[in-house]
Amino acid sequence: MSARIIDGKAFAAEIRGRVGEEVARLKAEHGITPGLAVVLVGEDPASQVYVRSKGRHTIEAGMNSYEHKLPADTPEAELLALIERLNEDPAVHGILVQLPLPGHMDEAAVINAISPAKDVDGFHILNVGRLATGQKAMVPCTPLGCLMMLRDLHGDLSGMGAVVIGRSNIVGKPMAQLLLGDSCTVTIAHSRTRDLPGVVKRADIVVAAVGRPEMVKGEWIKPGATVIDVGINRIPAPEKGEGKTRLVGDVDFESAAKVAGAITPVPGGVGPMTIACLLANTLTACCRIHGLPEPEGLTA
Ligand code: GUN
Repeated sequence: MSARIIDGKAFAAEIRGRVGEEVARLKAEHGITPGLAVVLVGEDPASQVYVRSKGRHTIEAGMNSYEHKLPADTPEAELLALIERLNEDPAVHGILVQLPLPGHMDEAAVINAISPAKDVDGFHILNVGRLATGQKAMVPCTPLGCLMMLRDLHGDLSGMGAVVIGRSNIVGKPMAQLLLGDSCTVTIAHSRTRDLPGVVKRADIVVAAVGRPEMVKGEWIKPGATVIDVGINRIPAPEKGEGKTRLVGDVDFESAAKVAGAITPVPGGVGPMTIACLLANTLTACCRIHGLPEPEGLTA
């Protein structure tokens, strides 16, 4: 058997298209243009790439993009003052502070300074609590993208066995909450889990978010299961030439694709969905702030 390859790039383009249509409608009917502010502290090259890409897609969706770049040695108080201004700015509906922050900053304090209504990352403790208690929340973008792909593939997820490998605040924990919200039987596994292959083997849905290149092997997968690979790991690729690298996920794609029913590739799987969901969250935040109905299918 050979798995269906889930085309995250195409699905993300579809989501971005739907967001774009809703943005156009908001402008035409209400004279409102959603705005996303992205804050980058320091010069981390990977973060710079992400931030540029976020800005480009925001504008392509018809929204306003506000970029704030601060030097790495910015005092925390200055960042908090900027967040306060963005919280008060009626043109800004979403605020994203790119992580990681420089070592002298208290990440939790910075995240919790963002207005929960504008917290398009869903990292504010109030949104985390709302998600955990089944209340309307802003939901982290990567898990939301994974959930959208799973719903698109299966429709109703009720009663399915799901294993989330990884317990980060950004992916693992919110992913488990979302799957639980859709009535899956959820196991959270991690690097210390005993008999991880045995745990994975029981699952109808496997979400791998551990950050270990090609750790999940085909033999671990239940035949026909759906495998969502959140990992983005750069590894040496001597076959491409000296010093060359390639991107791989947390799943050994070649062996897993022979057993799974459906699988996301890396790159081109979960990755593109994250930015699409950031745009969706900005639109959702804008609608909620203005007391307008939310577009369907773009939230948890
Ligand atoms: N750094 C890596 N991933 C993320 C993310 O999803 N949000 C933010 N704010 N920073 C990140």
